[in-house]
Amino acid sequence: MTWTSLPKLELHLHLEGAAPPALIRDLAREKHIDLSGIFTETGAYAFRDFPHFLKVYEAATSVLTTPRDYGRLTAAVLENCAEHGAIYVESFLSPDFCGGGDLHAWRDYLAEIEDASREAEKTHGIIHRGIVTCIRHFGPDAAKPAALCAAETAGPFIRGFGMGGNETLGHPRDFTWAFDCAREAGLHLTCHAGEWGGAQGIRDTLHHLAPARIGHGVAAHADPALIAQLAETAIHLETCPGSNIALGLFPSFAAHPLAKLRQAGVNVSISTDDPPFFHTTLTREYEETARAFDWDEEDFAAINRMALAAAFCDDDTAARVK
Ligand code: ADE
Ligand code: ZN
Repeated sequence: MTWTSLPKLELHLHLEGAAPPALIRDLAREKHIDLSGIFTETGAYAFRDFPHFLKVYEAATSVLTTPRDYGRLTAAVLENCAEHGAIYVESFLSPDFCGGGDLHAWRDYLAEIEDASREAEKTHGIIHRGIVTCIRHFGPDAAKPAALCAAETAGPFIRGFGMGGNETLGHPRDFTWAFDCAREAGLHLTCHAGEWGGAQGIRDTLHHLAPARIGHGVAAHADPALIAQLAETAIHLETCPGSNIALGLFPSFAAHPLAKLRQAGVNVSISTDDPPFFHTTLTREYEETARAFDWDEEDFAAINRMALAAAFCDDDTAARVK
């Protein structure tokens, strides 16, 4: 076994956040857009802190202006994932970036994303499913068209609805309409919480939006009652240790609460969030958690089983993830 070839599942990946910097630079050059301010001298994405990260993310995304760009992006991202042993990937797709919340435009973007996903499954054997996401700092009025896009395209590929963005702005109760709309369309739900919003952010999210999964959720680690609630109700946490460390939430993998949460009976998986931004890969996440927590192949088999049980794909697809 090598860490690279070990099979892995990725439940928390932002499609634009996974864009190789070289692809973004190529698109910027082709479209005569000056993006020099968002890269370091060595060509990596450059940001100071979380709010600045979101700005750089949105600047990079501004060169992805056509459905074909998203086809190229999807192909590049899934090739990278497959190189790191990913056999199943769910990615966050945003109608705000793909057509500005317009349903007809969204369908065109989605067609290219699905085409590239089918091609990647043929070439690399990797299975990709989409979670439509609204963006918290764009506000509840933008979340509604995003939810409608999700509801109208729910099916074998679009499996879920979620929310990312700046958790320190707005309140989960402002997004109930969007989440209810997606739930009524049969979509599975996830929501970023407990990354920047503390344990109360997780409680509010569970109370108002009732998702089955929480993106990050690591702020629960300091709240024993919330840990017990997460374990009892089998809420799944999509943890992204390398992202949390790169953004300064924890100083190291050894200091990350993933092992403590798992030990307490919480359902957890390991994902990369925005891998090139955080200088990470699924291989690095598995390798570093193995080193930090003394985990072996058995532990990662258990992590993968929790991820598959929490995956939003249908049962026939889940049966093919091996
Ligand atoms: N969008 C992309 N990455 C994110 C993160 N780590 N938190 C919230 N929103 C995001
Ligand atoms: Zn995220």
